[in-house]
Amino acid sequence: MVAKAVPEHVRWAVERLSPGPDDQLLEIGCGPGVAVALISERLMVLAGTERFDKVFAMNVNLFWVRSPAKELDLLKRLLDPGGALYLFYGYGGRRRQGKVGENTSRIPEALTEHLTERGFTVEVQPGPGMVCVVASLQ
Ligand SMILES: C[S@@+](CC[C@H](N)C(=O)[O-])C[C@H]1O[C@@H](n2cnc3c(N)ncnc32)[C@H](O)[C@@H]1O
Repeated sequence: MVAKAVPEHVRWAVERLSPGPDDQLLEIGCGPGVAVALISERLMVLAGTERFDKVFAMNVNLFWVRSPAKELDLLKRLLDPGGALYLFYGYGGRRRQGKVGENTSRIPEALTEHLTERGFTVEVQPGPGMVCVVASLQ
């Protein structure tokens, strides 16, 4: 039932994450939890781990509206070697009010600047009304 209600751009985001059965995932700012509900259909949900293979956030402004240096340094400690941070922005075809809706085209550039400053390697992946910025430490 949950899967039917999931918008295309959220499905696209979960495909980018490609969660494997042994992956340790952390979502920041899950809101109503649409993405995490879709992922939990594929993974066993465990709590208590201190290191993650994939950390992701969807439409969480803090990473691009200012320098998120403190948050990124914390995430560097939480990510497994070889892990990655996935930052998604966009609402599919729908127009949205507010910072993300008005500035979607500026987000990849701002994120790339902030992430590379903290030592991440960045890849930008455009999708259906959503962009994915993948940041890794290798
Ligand atoms: C626009 S909502 C997006 C919710 C959800 N990810 C989605 O795509 O539907 C932004 C979310 O980021 C969370 N958030 C904002 N600032 C945060 C921070 N500093 N740390 C953790 N979460 C934060 C909010 O609580 C909210 O759940």
